[in-house]
Amino acid sequence: MRIQAASEVSTSPARSHPRSPASGASEPILGQAHAKAILFGEHAVVYGSPAVAIPLHALTTTAQVRPLARGTRIHSALFHGDADDAPARVQPLLEAIYSAQRHTGMTQTGVELRLDSTVPYERGLGSSAVVGVSVARAIAALAEVEMTEDETFEVAMDCERIAHGRSSGLDPRTVISQVPIRFHGGKVSPIQVGAPLVFVLADSGHAGSTAQAVGAVKASLEADPTRVSGLIDRLGELAEGSLEQLARGDGETLGAQMFEAHRLLAELGVSDVALERLVDAAQAAGATGAKLTGGGRGGCVIALARDDDYGAKLEHVLRSAGAARTWRTTVEAA
Ligand code: MEV
Repeated sequence: MRIQAASEVSTSPARSHPRSPASGASEPILGQAHAKAILFGEHAVVYGSPAVAIPLHALTTTAQVRPLARGTRIHSALFHGDADDAPARVQPLLEAIYSAQRHTGMTQTGVELRLDSTVPYERGLGSSAVVGVSVARAIAALAEVEMTEDETFEVAMDCERIAHGRSSGLDPRTVISQVPIRFHGGKVSPIQVGAPLVFVLADSGHAGSTAQAVGAVKASLEADPTRVSGLIDRLGELAEGSLEQLARGDGETLGAQMFEAHRLLAELGVSDVALERLVDAAQAAGATGAKLTGGGRGGCVIALARDDDYGAKLEHVLRSAGAARTWRTTVEAA
């Protein structure tokens, strides 16, 4: 599967699409959101360091809603049925619905919600933030309310808190953004990209729990503050330094920084055997850079290719090295 960058996508950007009034709606009322990948700064961002992340426009979740007289019904890959019977894994989705209802004043109406997604769960690509944002957009459309970006963010954060516990806010902000961003201290700014960059994402095939990975880093920081805060500081420096390489379109330096960031994340204890195998395979095959992306301990690797043809070869290399799935995305110059 090929992921298209924002500028390659022919349809309009992901957003809510109210199709008909809430009363007597016959056409579906939809909210859509795309996935994200972190280029630099995961984990360090939880401690206030800067981070850089890109939207993945072709991996999307669509929430389709209709009003019910009362109650909440869910249709998703994880569960079909009434909220009262929902298992723990569906609680982040339910929290997104309830939070969006609170934000839109729709607390007296029931909701039936269907979730269709191409975003893999628990692979570091922001699935819970994508659920939060798509649900917020769908329920705002159902309530015929304009939800601001900050309100959409707050709904997604409510969902994230249930899914991951402590969240920096980086994932929801990247999911809301149509362009690559720098995220620092809760603030978002679009970043300059001097030349197109082709990235390959490879799924290790193993689920990663962001909550557990964040908890493990916290425990290491408490056990060995000097060493671990040094790693966190360097991850933040790499994120900040990457802005200059991105602006110049300097893939070689950027790629070298990705390899370094991966080594630091491994030292933080959030890599695993499958992720190491994928990064090693990318490096041996001549990728410009590669690192784990997101929470780690499972999940995905992101690798930088010198061009699109090489990106296709790299996808093949990574699948041969054990990747369950691969995708390719181009971040266009902007
Ligand atoms: C998870 O995608 C990114 C982390 O930095 C957690 C967070 O920022 O909340 C690991």
